[in-house]
Amino acid sequence: MKKYFSKKSVIKAMLCFIAVSPVYHASAQTKSNDAKMNAFVAGLMSKMTLDEKIGQLNLVTMGRAITGSVVNKGVEEKIAKGEIGGVFGVYGTEYVSKIQDLAVKNSRLHIPLIFGLDVIHGHRTIFPIPLGVSATWDMGLIQQSAKIAAKEATAEGLNWVFSPMVDIARDARWGRISEGSGEDPWYGSQVAKAMVKGYQGASMMDADAVMACVKHFALYGGAEAGREYNTVDMSLIKMYQDYLPPYKAAVDAGAGSFMSSFNTINGMPATVNQWLLTDLLRKQWGFTGFVVSDYTAVNEVTNHGLGDLQTVSALALKAGLDMDMVGEGFLTTLKKSLKEGKVTQQEIDLACRRVLEAKYKLGLFNNPNKSIDPAREQKDVFTAENRKVAREVAEHSFVLLKNQAETLPLKKSGTIALVGPLADNHSEMLGTWVIAGDPNKSVSVMEGIKNVVGDNVKVLYAKGANFSDDSLLSIRAFALTGPEAKDKRSPQEMIDEAVETAKKADVVVAVVGESSNMSGESSSRSDINIPENQKELLKALAKTGKPLVIVLFNGRPLTLTWEDKHASAILDAWAPGTEAGNAIADVLFGNYNPAGKITATFPRSVGQIPIYYNHKNTGRPYSGQGPAKFKSDYLDISNDPLYPFGYGLSYTTFGYSDVKLSKTSLKGNETLKATVTLTNTGKVAGEEVVQLYISDPVASISRSVKELKNYQKVMLQPGESKEISFNVTTADLKFYNNQLVYDWEPGEFIVQIGTNSTDTHNASVQWNK
Ligand code: BGC
Repeated sequence: MKKYFSKKSVIKAMLCFIAVSPVYHASAQTKSNDAKMNAFVAGLMSKMTLDEKIGQLNLVTMGRAITGSVVNKGVEEKIAKGEIGGVFGVYGTEYVSKIQDLAVKNSRLHIPLIFGLDVIHGHRTIFPIPLGVSATWDMGLIQQSAKIAAKEATAEGLNWVFSPMVDIARDARWGRISEGSGEDPWYGSQVAKAMVKGYQGASMMDADAVMACVKHFALYGGAEAGREYNTVDMSLIKMYQDYLPPYKAAVDAGAGSFMSSFNTINGMPATVNQWLLTDLLRKQWGFTGFVVSDYTAVNEVTNHGLGDLQTVSALALKAGLDMDMVGEGFLTTLKKSLKEGKVTQQEIDLACRRVLEAKYKLGLFNNPNKSIDPAREQKDVFTAENRKVAREVAEHSFVLLKNQAETLPLKKSGTIALVGPLADNHSEMLGTWVIAGDPNKSVSVMEGIKNVVGDNVKVLYAKGANFSDDSLLSIRAFALTGPEAKDKRSPQEMIDEAVETAKKADVVVAVVGESSNMSGESSSRSDINIPENQKELLKALAKTGKPLVIVLFNGRPLTLTWEDKHASAILDAWAPGTEAGNAIADVLFGNYNPAGKITATFPRSVGQIPIYYNHKNTGRPYSGQGPAKFKSDYLDISNDPLYPFGYGLSYTTFGYSDVKLSKTSLKGNETLKATVTLTNTGKVAGEEVVQLYISDPVASISRSVKELKNYQKVMLQPGESKEISFNVTTADLKFYNNQLVYDWEPGEFIVQIGTNSTDTHNASVQWNK
């Protein structure tokens, strides 16, 4: 090969680059900050006793987020003794400052505590559940929602949030699908980055930034049978290709901490899994923060069958777990394990150092009370601006699943029958995982309609049904919040009233679906229909012949085949948060044209699960046409989902041209430009999420039938057309091969652009090395 540069000139060029490059300056800055941090932490640790070091590894709850059967005792005394490194489940400057004082004033070395909380979709101002937020396909809004949550949480004394939850989920039975961003690794990675950036801001030292805690590491969403806390067992290729990317993206975005998951991975519980917590997370991915266990997850390793508390605590520390949540296995056994040679001083020191570094990065050693500012608590929380953004995020999160004959938007006149257990309800607007949000301050659908259309529309109300008449579902779902406040009338009496109400109206709006207690942690369901009694209500309403609009509340994809057939329109509102009613009314009456797209496939039947768009082809794929015998299918149902990944309608329609490619044959690191012309073919302005998928039909392993690689959200006026172009590079063609090498292979690729993962326009390209 020809030599273009002499060695000297290369060195000169490098020096010149170093002198002018901002990247280099940034890393020089980072290096000097790291050196200062290392010196500080080393100095502090040289003064610490073994007990004090172990104390830093102990995280306790003080009451407001209890998700297990164990709670901590004697917390205040332990803090003063230096036996606690962090606290969660408290907020409010007065209380937090009292607890912080115990550590800073009463403990020997005055080491501040870190204060965490499950701030999952907002703190005081509640945003839609994460699955809803993900349906916005708007990273700016997603980041902003996290930033607002951070601002509110820090205004109440917190500096650490147990979010984002980035677990890929392809099983709608699993209740925690509501807490994540759905089924796609690439899309989930974009959301993970946006959330981490929103929480941590420009610097975690800032008074309004928190440290993110990425959870649940790892693969929790792969629980067998969708049953909560169940075993996970998957191939390495599936792990690397489909489940791990969002965690990695969060590391790359600079996430300060990780939480280990409850599940096993190939037989080894995540919490004691050295391959996971050290080899993958730290050595392969370069994570430098700390890892906390999930709630009593260390203790639970005993139930997984790996030994008593001392044994499993030692295993966890050795694997790379730094902080033990609630169970106090570290606190009570590590000293003994050290004496018996079951752990080393270096292992304890390493974990302690990582926890102290986190506190340093948060600026807590400079000012332990940096987030304790009663003035901010008054002015930065639940503000009109925050609520405005919550309303905007909610509107953007809604997905129009069906809209026959332009039933929606509704006219701003006439009479509406508003029915359903969620129609005039405040507490259910907020969704799962809300600790500080005040349900009484949320806007109900009834109120929202009044706020948006005033007296121009007459609203007739009937509850129509309780959430569920199934006693097992009711008892288990409402176990934590207390029993559902049920209407005492018989189901038939309630339905009769709703039908009479519907007869007097021009249109029926039925606000039905799941209670927020029916999804989230420990809320798996084997039947993912709208509860039977509500379905009976819908059937009776449909029989009236009035247009039936379903506004659906759900923490997961539901099976909606009956609803899809019989309702005139279905608007999926998830659980929209504080501004629920206002946002729903804005969309129902056309003040905002919905543009959300689902990020998890909606099956036709629970029997199709797991169902996801980026599946493999199989050796006997069934095209859906012709004889099906000896093909991969079911006897009793089609393979297709009811609504595919990326699906969502609008009050307008969009036309896609064929895909134009800048080239059909490429080599090496060239860039391909793929373009479609998008036209708003309807009567109102609207946004469309234009999605780019790529298929790799021939490779060294069997690949997914297609994979999402990019998207653009575009606003068009009626009649307007726009060219939408995507640059495709070889980075978009890479995958993990049989040796787990991440690379691309030459050959044919099909570029697919469209409105969802099924309806695409395709063009083929040959790409050689
Ligand atoms: C959940 C976590 C949560 C933790 C603390 C656990 O049960 O799995 O997501 O952060 O409790 O509340």
